[in-house]
Amino acid sequence: MDSLLIAADNALRTLLARPGASEETPAHGLAEAALTPAQKKRAGALMRVNHVGEVCAQALYTAQATVTRDSRLRIHLQQAAREETDHLAWTRQRLDALGARPSLLNPLWFAGAFALGLVAARVGDRVSLGFVVETENQVAAHLQSHLARLPEQDLASRAVVARMKADEERHAMQARAAGALELPAPVRAAMKAAARVMTTTAHYL
Ligand SMILES: [Fe+2]
Ligand SMILES: [Fe+2]
Repeated sequence: MDSLLIAADNALRTLLARPGASEETPAHGLAEAALTPAQKKRAGALMRVNHVGEVCAQALYTAQATVTRDSRLRIHLQQAAREETDHLAWTRQRLDALGARPSLLNPLWFAGAFALGLVAARVGDRVSLGFVVETENQVAAHLQSHLARLPEQDLASRAVVARMKADEERHAMQARAAGALELPAPVRAAMKAAARVMTTTAHYL
């Protein structure tokens, strides 16, 4: 019951509240770039996609922490979730600065990611960790592609994306060190396909 309440609390906070970061944004001290309207729109769309990714990260980690019976693993997942809360706050700040809005479908993304997290965690802790590894690897690759697509002058967005990429790579490494199983190729392919639907939609909606 307790963990159910924690999960509900996390869902409401992620979707409705302005998340507070425990650490200053990597964009701190960087002036807003003078962007053309088209560049601003592109940067806003990319940061919306990244914000959706962080909404999903909240859902995944919370679902996994809710299910596991291993208290050490729960602490590990909750620590990663705290860092994802910083990412959520930083991407939200970038959306505001760029005059862009979060995805209208965030409740849907949260629910979908939460359900996937529950399924993975029910199969077993090592599968749950394998799911973390694959998700974080895919997110890191995605962030790398954004570094190529963000306007070059938008140093503030770039600083946030670069820092997140480093954090996500560390999350994958830590999950591997904690005993993650490698997911079968068809599962990884399905996750990639689902991520493609999400990122394409979030670009516009
Ligand atoms: Fe993240
Ligand atoms: Fe992460």
